[in-house]
Amino acid sequence: MALTVLNHPVAAHLLTCLRDRGTEPAVFRALCQRLTAFLVIEATRDLETRSEAIETPLEGCESPVLATELVVVPILRAGLGMLQAVTDLFPKVAVGYVGLERDHETAEARSYYRKLPPLEGRCILLVDPMLATGGSARQAITLLKEAGGRDIRLIAVVAAPEGVARISDLFPEVAIFTAGLDRELDERKYIRPGLGDFGDRLYGT
Ligand code: PRP
Ligand code: URA
Repeated sequence: MALTVLNHPVAAHLLTCLRDRGTEPAVFRALCQRLTAFLVIEATRDLETRSEAIETPLEGCESPVLATELVVVPILRAGLGMLQAVTDLFPKVAVGYVGLERDHETAEARSYYRKLPPLEGRCILLVDPMLATGGSARQAITLLKEAGGRDIRLIAVVAAPEGVARISDLFPEVAIFTAGLDRELDERKYIRPGLGDFGDRLYGT
């Protein structure tokens, strides 16, 4: 199973603050960006580089630059809370969007929007803070593959074992990165202990 759970005391601290029900939306949004930066740095650890000739103020030297083009695809709405961390780290990243919403009764995701840049040959960071049943991630990955995506990395703030197992079974080639692998899903398909409804906490709805 290609699962990486962040192992860093600062990331763990940020996740605890996100989980805390007393964290207000403005602080929640800021913490989410900081934690996403940790996740994205981990998820891009193996990106290829090439050597480029540059001049420092003192002399010329060969130094590595990223050789891989990146695409970030947030799953609307809650994935938007992770977007700026990626565009700040990678100013040249192309941005695509997939809109999915879970039905509150069935927990099945419904697709309502899609806008994707060219994906062939690019490293795709699919960002969605919650990997619960894996239904939303499954639909998004299927869309990305149909559009030519091959190197797809799924980045979630918190994941449930059920969602990780489902995505790993369906798409063993997709690496999953998370800050917290939680205990279980409850009867409403919410992650426990989790942090509640991520979109609602981001946007105060
Ligand atoms: C949340 C979350 C994921 C999805 C995870 O979105 O952001 O997209 O649920 O659940 P799953 O793994 O069971 O599919 P939600 O549908 O609540 O929409 P929102 O982002 O608009 O709040
Ligand atoms: N979506 C959320 O926002 N939270 C959960 O716990 C599960 C799905």
